[in-house]
Amino acid sequence: MSSTALLALPFQASVPTPAVRPAALPARAGHYQPACIRSLFDELAATYDCAAWLSGGLLGWWRARLAAALPRPPGSLPAVIVDLMAGGADLWPALRRRFGPGLRVAAIDFSAPMLARAAHHASNPALTLHCADALATPLPDAWATALTCAFGLKTLPTAAYPTLAAEAARLLQPGGTLALTELVLLPSGWQRGLLLHYLAAMPRLLGRLWPAATAHAALLRYARSGPDLPALTMALRAAGFEQIQQQRLWPGCAVLISARKPSEPL
Ligand SMILES: C[S@@+](CC[C@H](N)C(=O)[O-])C[C@H]1O[C@@H](n2cnc3c(N)ncnc32)[C@H](O)[C@@H]1O
Repeated sequence: MSSTALLALPFQASVPTPAVRPAALPARAGHYQPACIRSLFDELAATYDCAAWLSGGLLGWWRARLAAALPRPPGSLPAVIVDLMAGGADLWPALRRRFGPGLRVAAIDFSAPMLARAAHHASNPALTLHCADALATPLPDAWATALTCAFGLKTLPTAAYPTLAAEAARLLQPGGTLALTELVLLPSGWQRGLLLHYLAAMPRLLGRLWPAATAHAALLRYARSGPDLPALTMALRAAGFEQIQQQRLWPGCAVLISARKPSEPL
């Protein structure tokens, strides 16, 4: 599939159904290779929706917090948002609630089966789906009033942060806002231990009923390492972002990062 393919409803039929078998764990040295990440998510796509209820609703709540961190454009201007590593446009409902019917969203993901999960939203022309690398999107410069990314950072290698930050700066209009959220475990303590046990146990238990769900166990290693937040802040600063802020989201195991691209000098 072309990296710039614009996907619409009929696309779903042409996407092969992900294999129903446990995820092949990536080789240690290759955990963060794009091909490895893509094939992991190709495999997870069939059962990704169960992540929402395994989180007890927290994923949805964190997505709503991310949407709330984006300012509404002034006057009656529409919000135009690039959602990087969008999965099945999982942020779309929260963004729609925040910005209403004028909203336009371009959802970018390099896993066709993950994007295909968005087919039920894709009859809405305000949402376009692009099968592309988040580090080199097919969208024009200054296309967006805001840029989002939910839960995509943990599988992105730290070395790619400067490219991500530069692509975000390219896509945003001056004065545009970026908001990213990710699961970030506390460095130690009972809450970290409990969550790691939960993340390890649930795919095994669920896998007894639904073998494809065991693939979620592969996410544990990325959750354990988490994103490198100081490196991300440095990369955003180097790409020219200002007002870089970080906040822990309740109950403490997710982080919301926001930043602003400076306005053009008057
Ligand atoms: C954990 S899922 C998050 C999906 C969605 N944003 C959500 O809120 O649930 C991470 C997604 O990022 C995608 N992804 C990871 N690295 C990517 C990259 N370099 N370019 C495009 N998509 C990427 C994966 O295919 C996967 O769909």
